[in-house]
Amino acid sequence: MHVNGMKIRRFESPRGAARALARHMVHAVADRPDLVLGLPTGRTPVLLYAELVRRYRAGEVDFSRVRTFNLDEFLGIAPSDPRSYRTFMARHLFDHVNLERRRIHFLDGTAADPDDECRRYERAIARAGGIDLMLLGLGANGHIGFNEPAASLVGATHPATLTAATRRANAALFGNDRRQVPARALSMGMATILRARRIVLLATGTSKARMVDRLVTGPITPLLPASFLQLHRCAEVWIDRAAAASLSGRAAP
Ligand code: GLP
Repeated sequence: MHVNGMKIRRFESPRGAARALARHMVHAVADRPDLVLGLPTGRTPVLLYAELVRRYRAGEVDFSRVRTFNLDEFLGIAPSDPRSYRTFMARHLFDHVNLERRRIHFLDGTAADPDDECRRYERAIARAGGIDLMLLGLGANGHIGFNEPAASLVGATHPATLTAATRRANAALFGNDRRQVPARALSMGMATILRARRIVLLATGTSKARMVDRLVTGPITPLLPASFLQLHRCAEVWIDRAAAASLSGRAAP
């Protein structure tokens, strides 16, 4: 089903969505072995990464030429820090498949000059020829990457200030103490994300239902950064039954 230019795909369960997306990615890599992927962290993609690892172990996919760019990283947290998004990705995906280290790209939260680091990242994405398939999660407040709801959004990769809600949502990585979550991060910007050739936003669970409805059926507003996906030529929203529960209007089940 298409609503506001976005393709909506519904699945019975988070596992069903993860399986379908992994299958889709395996085919995409078979078609284009040097595919450029944009990757998210968070609880949502964990099942997807597990499914990709399973398929890799089954000999169904070769990641050796695939290139990856993660969306974001905490400012002040070193890549090797157990709380970094870089470590999260190693634990859930990178350490278990044959991605080559030099083809894995990450923002470095400890770079001496964060603005320079953001410019370096934009150049690296451009040099790779842009992102072919951008996978996104959805923040409970409607953020994508660390592009938080605000009066205005930033186009390029940039240092971002996190809202209290987002710091709370990320507390699990920091011993469940939201005060330990850095107040700032580096994130791909809205234009960086929207330049990807294809975008798939994955959202599961009841906690995302209201935001999913607003992003699909509501107005495009910086107060809900994910709503900008409506402007993309090739954006898809993959959801499970729980995340689809509040869909209204033309998108209603
Ligand atoms: C973090 C990340 C986002 C992610 C979001 C949702 O804030 N910066 O990229 O999409 O969490 O996380 P979860 O999937 O755990 O709900």
